[in-house]
Amino acid sequence: ITIEGIDGSGKSTQADHLANWLSAVADEKVIRTFEPGGWKGGKTLRKFILETKNLCTMSEFLLFMADRAEHLHRVIIPELLAGNHVVCERWNESTLAYQCGGHGMDYDFAEKVIASCSFPEPDVKIFLDIPPVIAFSRMKSRENLDDKYKRDRFEAEGLVFLEKVSSFYHRLIAKNPDKFIMIDCGERQEYEIAGEIMRKLGVELSDEPNSD
Ligand code: ADP
Ligand code: TYD
Repeated sequence: ITIEGIDGSGKSTQADHLANWLSAVADEKVIRTFEPGGWKGGKTLRKFILETKNLCTMSEFLLFMADRAEHLHRVIIPELLAGNHVVCERWNESTLAYQCGGHGMDYDFAEKVIASCSFPEPDVKIFLDIPPVIAFSRMKSRENLDDKYKRDRFEAEGLVFLEKVSSFYHRLIAKNPDKFIMIDCGERQEYEIAGEIMRKLGVELSDEPNSD
C-alpha cells in the first residue's frame, strides 16, 4: 500500500494510523516504511538528496531511482515474501509529480525509466488530496516546533512549487482514476480521514480507536 500526497498532506500521520489499525483490527503484520531513505544506510542518501543545493534534475531523478531500488530489494521484497503488508510513504508517483511536475523533467522519459526498473505497482495507492495552501501552512507551523521539521530543499521551494506538484498528481490520477483511493484531506480531523481510508480499504472498523 502506498500513500502519496504533497508535503504536509498528512502522509506520516495516516501511515501511522493505517499501520496501527491494520495490525490491530485485521491482525496482520504490517511494516511501515517511506522514501527517500527507508532502508538501512538510506539516511545518507536521503540527506544527500534533500540537502545538496543545485543538484540537476537528472541527478535528482536518478538518485531517487537508486534509493527506490535499494528500498525495494532490501526492505519491500523481503517483507512481502515473508507474508507481511507494507505501508510505504511515497513511490513512483512522487517521482513523476515532483521531478516532472515540479522540476520539469520529461514525463515520457521518466515513465520509461521507471518501467525499465521494474518497480512493482502497489496493490493499493492512496492519495491524500489537500489544497496546497493548507499543506503549506501546516509545514510552516510545524517547522517552528522543532529543528527536525526544518524545511528540506523541496519544501523550501514554496507554495507555487507545491501547487505544480499537486496539479501533476491530479493529472496522473485523472489518467487512471480507478488505481487510486482518493481521500479529501482539507480541513478534516485525522481520525475521520483514517476512518475513511480503512472503510475504502474494506477493513471492518469494529475496533476503531477512540479519537478522544
Ligand atoms: P506529511 O508526512 O505528508 O508531510 P504529516 O503527517 O507530517 O504530513 O503532517 C503534517 C503536519 O500536519 C503535522 O504537523 C501533523 O501533525 C499535521 N496534521 C496531519 N494531519 C492533520 C489533519 N487532519 N488536520 C490538521 N493537521 C494535521
Ligand atoms: P518526505 O520525507 O516524504 O517529505 P514530507 O514528509 O514532508 O512529505 O520526502 C522528502 C521530499 O522528497 C519531499 O519534498 C518530496 C521529495 N521526493 C521527490 O521529489 N521525488 C521522489 O521520488 C520522492 C520519493 C520524494
